Amino acid sequence: MAIDRAPPQFYALFVHKLAIGVLGASGYAGRELCELVARHPSARLAFASANERVGASARFGGTEHTFVAAEDARLGDAALVFSALPHGASAQWVSAAHAAGAKVVDLSADLRPGSSAACVPYGLTEHARELVRDAEIVANPGCYPTVTLLALLPLIARGLVAPGATITVNAASGVTGAGFSPRRELMFAEVAEDFRPYAIGNTHRHLAEMRAVLAELGCDADLIFTPHLLPVARGILATITVPVAEPIEDVLAPWREHYAGEPFIEVSAEIPALRDVVHRNVVRITATVAAGVRTPTIIVVAAIDNLVKGAAGQAVQNANLLLGLDETMGLPA
Ligand SMILES: NC(=O)c1ccc[n+]([C@@H]2O[C@H](COP(=O)([O-])OP(=O)(O)OC[C@H]3O[C@@H](n4cnc5c(N)ncnc54)[C@H](OP(=O)(O)O)[C@@H]3O)[C@@H](O)[C@H]2O)c1
Repeated sequence: MAIDRAPPQFYALFVHKLAIGVLGASGYAGRELCELVARHPSARLAFASANERVGASARFGGTEHTFVAAEDARLGDAALVFSALPHGASAQWVSAAHAAGAKVVDLSADLRPGSSAACVPYGLTEHARELVRDAEIVANPGCYPTVTLLALLPLIARGLVAPGATITVNAASGVTGAGFSPRRELMFAEVAEDFRPYAIGNTHRHLAEMRAVLAELGCDADLIFTPHLLPVARGILATITVPVAEPIEDVLAPWREHYAGEPFIEVSAEIPALRDVVHRNVVRITATVAAGVRTPTIIVVAAIDNLVKGAAGQAVQNANLLLGLDETMGLPA
């Protein structure tokens, strides 16, 4: 069908690009968002905000954009606003953007489960697709919770986690997970050719979010989560040990069944590696039975790009649903 003869709704789909704003656009997650928006077939970048870097320029999708202050962003011109602002700074801008008439995807922890202000759908897209579709504001999950919860959901949904079990998550993240702010322990010479855990003692701030979701799902288990700093720019690989209620014969079956037809979830007998997932909006998962233990135990390994499936990509997936577009539009599979 020729576009100029198409009914108006098709004409709009082909020609009209929705205005999308990005707050916190000069940060790692914000830049990734700007690039995805600029290359999205149905979106255009309406504004990109920064704080200290107001007035600086960056190229997104081949076009130069100048960062404006959040106060000068024309929130009301945008159909949707992404907030990639730091925790604590985001919630007020989410409210302002929504009050100006925009739908909002908030990448910060301000509105996520486990925070005192949690009150909007949690955008773990494969789990909450229908809630997200009808929402005005969505709390985009954190990077570690994304990989951990997507890895665990099939076992939880089937009641396979042993009651009262302790689930152990060891996850390693590339350095962009810590954001752009300069810190001594993130300097090249401190990170390169080294590997170390941080927030040991089950104290990482993402635990509240993961615990809240597990509780909501009725999963009676403790979580021990130890993050590690990996000397690469991007990517998270998590190794998760789960005591199960009964032996599982076909170990990959829960994941294959649960995620059948999901465009961004890859279940594989191969062990996932970061190179399988970086720059892609996917989670890659495998599982195996732990040998030599008395309690039946499954080891799940899952990998994502923290800036794509763990941040900007999942945010665009949610935005597509909020805007009534195809969920996969503009996303690197
Ligand atoms: N990095 C990840 O892997 C990841 C994954 C999932 C979720 N997230 C979440 O996404 C958000 C952004 O993370 P990030 O890693 O991209 O952080 P980042 O690199 O530090 O970027 C923060 C952005 O917010 C701006 N900003 C800082 N303080 C501000 C303030 N008070 N008012 C207005 N703007 C302000 C910064 O502007 P200037 O550059 O001008 O200072 C920058 O554009 C965080 O909430 C984070 O938890 C990040």
